[in-house]
Amino acid sequence: MKIILNAATSIDGKIATVNGDTKISSVLDLKRVHGLRRETDVILVGISTVINDDPLLTIRYGMNKKGTKNPIRIIIDSKARIPMHSKIVKTANQIETRLVVTSKAPSKNLKKLEERGLKIIVLDQGTKEDGEENGEDNREKVDLKKLFNQLEKEGISNVLVEGGGEINWSIIKDNLFDEMIITISPLIIGGKKAISLVGGEGYKTVNESVKIKLSRIQKKSNGEIILHYKSIKTN
Ligand SMILES: NC(=O)c1ccc[n+]([C@@H]2O[C@H](COP(=O)([O-])OP(=O)(O)OC[C@H]3O[C@@H](n4cnc5c(N)ncnc54)[C@H](OP(=O)(O)O)[C@@H]3O)[C@@H](O)[C@H]2O)c1
Repeated sequence: MKIILNAATSIDGKIATVNGDTKISSVLDLKRVHGLRRETDVILVGISTVINDDPLLTIRYGMNKKGTKNPIRIIIDSKARIPMHSKIVKTANQIETRLVVTSKAPSKNLKKLEERGLKIIVLDQGTKEDGEENGEDNREKVDLKKLFNQLEKEGISNVLVEGGGEINWSIIKDNLFDEMIITISPLIIGGKKAISLVGGEGYKTVNESVKIKLSRIQKKSNGEIILHYKSIKTN
């Protein structure tokens, strides 16, 4: 199963402004992303992206011929915080949508979401007991490795990850991706608190960082650069 991570950034690596404005790339680039969506089985995003952007995550631009099937939408949402009024929930009866939660998600929310057509998957990173020795509760976050294993077993061939920064970090730090496609728009956003391409805790030394291989560069007439990378899997 191939996992592709796609994102649009400013030249200072931001994927949104401090106020959460994310219209970073051009319509031309959006069309390219919708082309990618057309070739994928699954689109995956984190819950903060849904809360901030209220995306539909369907194929709309350019290449959507009548009858094209939308990919399965997967939202990573430990506590089932997805708003009932979100476009994703409102369309879950028409487009297959899976909400991946942990066992800490309130069952009341899960019941309501199931009634709206979402499929609920519970995937804890571990048990409460095995995190206790580090003072952690390992059920705080969704286990993405388990999720990808399940999808592979199901026969899913490709997953398109569309952010945001926290999800990107979880996927990158465990080297779970195969390719990265990053559009760099000729913009400088700034802001210490503006979200970057990759969030999480980060590495303490450059030596520890995840190494990737540049495979292709596309330069567009509007100044956008599309960088294609392949992961270097060490195991
Ligand atoms: N320019 C672009 O290409 C682009 C693309 C996408 C998003 N964005 C922007 O990015 C921003 C959102 O990014 P974000 O970093 O704040 O959040 P995010 O990655 O969208 O979502 C992160 C949240 O997912 C949940 N989660 C559950 N399990 C997880 C796991 N194993 N690893 C990571 N997260 C897990 C956590 O919330 P719970 O603990 O509550 O479950 C976590 O806070 C928005 O402003 C959006 O507009 C930009």
